Amino acid sequence: MQSPHFATLMATALVCAIATTSVAQTKVAAPAKTPASASLTAHEAKIEALLKQLTLEEKVHMIHANSAFAAGGVPRLGIPEIMTSDGPHGVRPEQGRSWKPVDSPSNAGTYMPTNNTLASTWNPALGYAYGTVLGQEANFRGKDIILGPGINIIRTPLNGRNFEYLSEDPFLVSKMVVGYIKGVQDQGVSACVKHFAVNNQETHRSDVDVNVSERAMREIYLPGFRAAVQQAGVYTLMGAYNKFRGQYTTHNEYLMNAILKGEWGFKGLVISDWGSVHDTQEALRNGTDLEMGTDLALALQGTAQGGQVGGGPKPVYTPALYERFYLAAPALEATRQDPKLVPLIDDKVRRILRVMYATNMLGGTKRQTGSHNTREHQATALKVAEEGIVLLKNDGILPLKKTVKSIVVIGANATRENAGGGGSGQLKAKYEITPLQGLKNALGTAATVTYAAGYKVARGQQADPALIAEAVAAAKAAEVVVYVGGSFHGYDYTNWSDNAYDAEDTDKPDMNMPFGQDELLRAVQAANPNTVVVLLGGGPIDVSGWIKQTKGLIEAWYPGMEGGNALAHILFGNVNPSGKLPFTFPVKLEDAPAHKLGEYPSTPGNPLKQTYKDDIYVGYRYFDTYKVAPQFAFGHGLSYTTFKYDKLTVTPGIKSATVKLTVTNTGKMAGAEVVQVYVHDQQASLKRPEKELKGFEKIFLQPGESKTVTLTLDSDAFQFYDEGKKQWVLEPGKFDVLVGSSSRDIRLTGSVLL
Ligand code: BGC
Repeated sequence: MQSPHFATLMATALVCAIATTSVAQTKVAAPAKTPASASLTAHEAKIEALLKQLTLEEKVHMIHANSAFAAGGVPRLGIPEIMTSDGPHGVRPEQGRSWKPVDSPSNAGTYMPTNNTLASTWNPALGYAYGTVLGQEANFRGKDIILGPGINIIRTPLNGRNFEYLSEDPFLVSKMVVGYIKGVQDQGVSACVKHFAVNNQETHRSDVDVNVSERAMREIYLPGFRAAVQQAGVYTLMGAYNKFRGQYTTHNEYLMNAILKGEWGFKGLVISDWGSVHDTQEALRNGTDLEMGTDLALALQGTAQGGQVGGGPKPVYTPALYERFYLAAPALEATRQDPKLVPLIDDKVRRILRVMYATNMLGGTKRQTGSHNTREHQATALKVAEEGIVLLKNDGILPLKKTVKSIVVIGANATRENAGGGGSGQLKAKYEITPLQGLKNALGTAATVTYAAGYKVARGQQADPALIAEAVAAAKAAEVVVYVGGSFHGYDYTNWSDNAYDAEDTDKPDMNMPFGQDELLRAVQAANPNTVVVLLGGGPIDVSGWIKQTKGLIEAWYPGMEGGNALAHILFGNVNPSGKLPFTFPVKLEDAPAHKLGEYPSTPGNPLKQTYKDDIYVGYRYFDTYKVAPQFAFGHGLSYTTFKYDKLTVTPGIKSATVKLTVTNTGKMAGAEVVQVYVHDQQASLKRPEKELKGFEKIFLQPGESKTVTLTLDSDAFQFYDEGKKQWVLEPGKFDVLVGSSSRDIRLTGSVLL
């Protein structure tokens, strides 16, 4: 339940005239305290009783999809079908049982800012608010499992799905994922954390075999999933498409049995990604509980009608086709032949039933009514965008003066709607405020706002001299230029060949702005130096060709249905920016560790193999350790006010430390600062990253106000994973504690001897 305070606050934030938005409105309620996973195992006796009544055929019927997004159901015993839906930043429009999209007024829902925007808020309470919106809208739409959050580590700037993910840093991922999951699950809906694991690119996602050191798995790629299981108590987890150490991740002995269900004690449900099961015996034995799938799965099974995604004729989806799933007729046959497999089937059904009890599908409790498109949901979308948009550079041009009389908005992204893009994360938004609309809403009749597209969003499109000339003329005639460009979502889910940017199933070709935008922007900046650049996109963009001449640069990601309003609030200073980068912007793509140290997208000469030679040196761990200057550092994000850090103390505990400091708002405007705490191991028996994020807190300060920030660093903050000993190790010694406003803006340094 949201507190009344939260409801009032969100409503106030929405209706508030932009000139009066105050810092108090950026506070949100803390997540409710939900005991991790307790609700999953609260009905074991009833579940065992049901298992006794189910026939083998009925059990097998429950462990595979029966249509596009639904599975199972045994009416004889009152067991309903499970209804799933994407995920991860809204509830997807109905795809129909046989992938024939169904038109319905309730398809149009709340379009939240994408997950990378949420991560940029560095505000876990907003993660909870975000999850609450998803849970309520899932209930309204009759969905039991929402297929999100996506939390794969952002390893390369090129990954087409970075917009669906959170960060390059496992600590930030862990903190943000917990709120999101609890927010969803407190509504009686299951979250589904995905894609487990090392699905860090889309190129060859369905067949690349990823090899990663045990240390990198433990320190970088697994912690977010572990937090989802052990801290958030997530009910459902999705396997990935790729292989890991020679075996498909969805039925990977090590990932599913040894780590997830063994070490971490996961009691919930493992579902496959759509079509990620490839072997009946492995799926039966290695922890895949529910097989979901689509044309890809069917094609792989050799159906006559099947075709690869995007190519060939579409299969005709009949229930008989789903019986060909690996966990359908073949599993039944295998179990009849070998009754020793029965306990494995039972365990899968048990896990499905646990999720059903936890989500009010069984046990006499009712689904919560849910809600849809409420003002509160829209206010949460606005709030996440306002706190997630990042001010990257400001030479004093921002905030724009309210006395400005003429603005030209240049760039096709200013009028483009993004809800429908990206692949399975596609949404139908109730409405979407574009950047141009947001500016017009903010200015009303106070100034003239004109628009020039400047470039065309079209496959293979290069700079267009006529459009550039038009933009340059418009730029010369205006006081201020707001350039809105950057990347874009793929066109449309059904047209996969055009999904070249920020979309599923394909990585980006490079880190540049497409469609000749660099040339356009340089011409615009030459025509009018009073240009603010706003980027949209799922990841870092190469800004090196024009950054020096740029007076103001804002990263707006895909900021959701209220994005245009949020952007305008920041441009005019009605909201003080407080977003921080959740991943590094390299100067050039070659500087990114996945590309420098390799391998990406595969081992040279073998497109189906890949070793993460960058190992634990992902993101800022690489830039800082290897002394490579980033364009914009991890954790970077400017404000319109200034913050002073002082009075740092670091007090040792037993294998822990307490960090205390004071932060003062020394400027004239209320604002929020994300205080970041990094740990540097002074001496270790093996190479460690220069520094690692181990704590942060977002604080809100009025001008002149001071606050004391206290953060506890537990033993996790000092440990590394020892591959020889196969365990986490805390080596005694001295550790530096670096406190700052970004990973490269360290304001105070202390140390602790443990
Ligand atoms: C994606 C998943 C998604 C599923 C269902 C797959 O292609 O990888 O993230 O949840 O489709 O749409």
